[in-house]
Amino acid sequence: MKPGAATDAHSERPAHLLIVDDEPVILQILRAVFEDQPYRLTTVSSGQDARSVIDEQGCDILITDKNLPDIGGLDLLLQAKQRDPTIEVIVVTGYGSLETVITAMELGAYDYVIKPLNNVFEIRRKVERALDRQHIARENARLLVDLRDNNIALQAALAEARELQGELIQSEKLAGIGTLAAGIAHEVSSPLFGIMGLAEAILDEQEPKLVREYAGDIVEYCRGIRDIVVELSSYSRAAAGEYRTSVPVAQVARDALRLVKRSSPVEGVDYVLELDDEETMVQARMNEVQQVFVNLIKNASDAVRECHGASGGQVHIRVKLDGDNVAAEVQDNGVGIPKDKLGVVFDPFYTTKPPGKGTGLGLNVVWRIITKYRGTVNVESQVGHGTVIRFRLPIQTK
Ligand SMILES: Nc1ncnc2c1ncn2[C@@H]1O[C@H](COP(=O)(O)OP(=O)(O)O)[C@@H](O)[C@H]1O
Ligand SMILES: [Mg+2]
Repeated sequence: MKPGAATDAHSERPAHLLIVDDEPVILQILRAVFEDQPYRLTTVSSGQDARSVIDEQGCDILITDKNLPDIGGLDLLLQAKQRDPTIEVIVVTGYGSLETVITAMELGAYDYVIKPLNNVFEIRRKVERALDRQHIARENARLLVDLRDNNIALQAALAEARELQGELIQSEKLAGIGTLAAGIAHEVSSPLFGIMGLAEAILDEQEPKLVREYAGDIVEYCRGIRDIVVELSSYSRAAAGEYRTSVPVAQVARDALRLVKRSSPVEGVDYVLELDDEETMVQARMNEVQQVFVNLIKNASDAVRECHGASGGQVHIRVKLDGDNVAAEVQDNGVGIPKDKLGVVFDPFYTTKPPGKGTGLGLNVVWRIITKYRGTVNVESQVGHGTVIRFRLPIQTK
């Protein structure tokens, strides 16, 4: 016996067959057909009795005469289906009323048998097949419920994960601020002590030439501090009131390049703008997106100048649409970044530039801005060949 075919799939109880016919001979035959089968049999001779059995116990298979004197077989069929749509019904009918078989099938009957019952094996097979189908239907229903339960559990887990992620981002931000504060203290304190020392020296110094020299050094130290403060202001701007607008990324890239060219000498660097998509917008603060490009283009310019001097430097700025994201990159053929430094370039105050030339905040600002808008940024580089920094920002959907 196949598991699930003659028994109920879950409780492994024998399948319950309810047989209804008002002709004692037919009932007798059917009882004989199923006697040696592993089913639980209930036989009744009226529609009314059948109705009670269905109401009180239900059944798995209902075999009913179509024409019962009290309640019609089709009514029993409907009642059974109403109680449990997976109950399979086989209608027994005479030759004369074959057309009603069609109605029965339309109402959900599984099959029919014709009186007189001369092929008992056929009846058995029909019941077996009905049980098979029922098994599959019930299994499907169970799987569906499981699926729904799993889905609900999954959604709960997802919500929890999101919440956790939010908390993590928050704590990472706090940790970032801690690192930043320590960095600032460190970066500002050494020029500050220098300035103090020089100022004290000036107080005691009679020689005008030396006083001027010390004053010149103080100005240099102050410039260094000023640069740090200027870079830092973008942090506080980011933290201040959020006013986001639709920002056309490609156009901002073009403006940023113009800004860099205007603000620092660029001889010998060939800048190439490749803007595939001029229209795509992201929701952000315009000056932050501009800052990202400015910082990347400045770094690329420094890198190519260090490598090529006055000619041969190339910087490519690319913006394109990639699915739901704007994908942008700034690529240069400059000095490159050693492998073991790729992990720290986004850290605050990491710089390889001489004092007065770099603050080490540029890429950290880039990272902060991009991640704030749920974007990603990464760096790929080869010493002596160049560097490409790519970032993606989710586009504005509506
Ligand atoms: N395009 C690049 N090519 C080579 N090195 C780079 C590039 N961009 C960044 N770097 C390295 O990362 C460091 C940190 O960059 P950044 O945070 O912008 O600070 P800064 O430019 O003030 O040094 C740089 O000093 C440099 O060593
Ligand atoms: Mg920089």
